[in-house]
Amino acid sequence: MAKPTALSGSTLVFAAVCGLLATSVGASEDQSSTDHCFRNLYDGLGNSTFMQFTKEAISMDYGVQGSFKSLHCCAKGYRSIEWLKDGKAYPWTSEISSLILYPEASNQTIYTRQVQAADAGNYTCVLRNDTHKIAHHILLNVQGNLPDIPLATYRPHDQVAELGNSVRFYCEAFVGKLGLPDAKSEISWFQIKDGLEEQIDGEQITVLRENGQNIGSYLKISHVQIHNYGRYLCRVQFNGAAHHLEMYAGLFNAPIATEIDRTLTLYHTLAAVLSAAAAAIVVLSIWCLIRPWCLRRNGCKNQCQIENNMVNNGCANENYGRQNSMGPRQV
Ligand SMILES: *[C@@H]1O[C@H](CO)[C@@H](O)[C@H](O)[C@H]1NC(C)=O
Ligand SMILES: *[C@@H]1O[C@H](CO)[C@@H](O)[C@H](O)[C@H]1NC(C)=O
Ligand SMILES: *[C@@H]1O[C@H](CO)[C@@H](O)[C@H](O)[C@H]1NC(C)=O
Ligand SMILES: *[C@@H]1O[C@H](CO)[C@@H](O)[C@H](O)[C@H]1NC(C)=O
Repeated sequence: MAKPTALSGSTLVFAAVCGLLATSVGASEDQSSTDHCFRNLYDGLGNSTFMQFTKEAISMDYGVQGSFKSLHCCAKGYRSIEWLKDGKAYPWTSEISSLILYPEASNQTIYTRQVQAADAGNYTCVLRNDTHKIAHHILLNVQGNLPDIPLATYRPHDQVAELGNSVRFYCEAFVGKLGLPDAKSEISWFQIKDGLEEQIDGEQITVLRENGQNIGSYLKISHVQIHNYGRYLCRVQFNGAAHHLEMYAGLFNAPIATEIDRTLTLYHTLAAVLSAAAAAIVVLSIWCLIRPWCLRRNGCKNQCQIENNMVNNGCANENYGRQNSMGPRQV
């Protein structure tokens, strides 16, 4: 059941917020990009000290020649972090790459004010602690023009979550620096149900990087319920729906006997018990009606005799059983 009115309403608000964000980011381009590793970190990192990534690590990125570009390996618990480009360790000559370390972010970020064609390549960050090493690769593409459609920089990953737990999805795309003042990029999450796009039961947080050239969105579900399981769509578009990118992911691990199933089972059991009771009452009533009539008929005498015997025997057995269970006190 899509709700088009509410949807377009929220899209309007979203577009307005996006416009606002785009202007404020423009004022402090470097900061918005270089503090990437300090914002929107995973929940529940707590004070754990083992080496790990602190947010979703992007492995594909794009830049338009001459514009700002930064790459990130946001992590914690490492003793050292080393950067390589196409296997060559930092620092690089200008022929290899113009990207430089950003020490204020504990070397988790490298950046350049003006990305060049030569900067394109396979960047690797290597994190080390005393016992382990984690390498992460980021492929940087540099192009002369803005893309025609949004290009995926982070495709959302399937998630597995227990009922009641929290979960978050992330999706991100490169849209380039839209020159025209009325040009807007939008990003939204939908849940797919029976082939229809439904509004999301969860919090969506839009983030911009690289002066709005990269647009991303977190979808946070803080308390997973039955209806949250299923398929999700992240749609990125600019200049209207003609130029759009769709990325899908699933939320898995719905309990086998769902709450709904359990309710249904309970309902069915109750119905079965009630109908069995009703049937028993009907049978008993018929028997009570038939029995006196049966007794009055000679043809039935033997039959009734047998029945009476059965009932009496039953009674006798019952009494016998009762005495036994009462034990020697009764004897
Ligand atoms: C980690 O944080 C929790 C509370 O968030 C605290 O109870 C615990 O003592 C902390 N552990 C360490 C090793 O600091
Ligand atoms: C190093 O990092 C790995 C991976 O996060 C972790 O399992 C291991 O315990 C860490 N070793 C030390 C000495 O902290
Ligand atoms: C960052 O890298 C520089 C140069 O490689 C190094 O001297 C410095 O110690 C590093 N800082 C951190 C926090 O790792
Ligand atoms: C980047 O380089 C590493 C080895 O240094 C390689 O394993 C990886 O596949 C490369 N990635 C791409 C996209 O070429």
